[in-house]
Amino acid sequence: MSRLVYVLNGPNLNLLGKRQPHIYGHETLADVERDCRALATELGLALRFHQSNREYEIIDWIHEARETACGLAINPAAFTHTSVAVLDALNTFNHPVIEVHISNVHKREEFRHKSFVSLRADGVIAGCGTLGYQLALRCIAQLLDRAK
Ligand code: DQA
Repeated sequence: MSRLVYVLNGPNLNLLGKRQPHIYGHETLADVERDCRALATELGLALRFHQSNREYEIIDWIHEARETACGLAINPAAFTHTSVAVLDALNTFNHPVIEVHISNVHKREEFRHKSFVSLRADGVIAGCGTLGYQLALRCIAQLLDRAK
């Protein structure tokens, strides 16, 4: 049976490709989803891929993942720097969590240097562009393989 992994995306990532392309690139979120699905098949993972501009939806998907998934990759976008609620939800999830940022948040404004999510994440990928999502899936697959 395929191992289910959630890929969650926070606010404004629906505008990927149109939004500040000098920072986030020209790929759309649909492109990212397509590439993640292709890689997931290769890695023997089943995928749920979601984006929301609403904090509660991200939290509800994390709760759903608690029941069904064995790994989670999350680009919490601006919620990274603000949301204790997303951190609390992730703290209820007992499998690998990888935090993804398309840009190198450490090279940017100081308010982006703090991440609540990093207090829970098993790994953090930043500044690798949209490739970061694929690196996260590879990392989760390897962590799951090792835990077998
Ligand atoms: C981001 C970085 C965040 O600081 C920002 O709020 C985003 C995207 C990234 O992928 O680089 O929306 O998470």
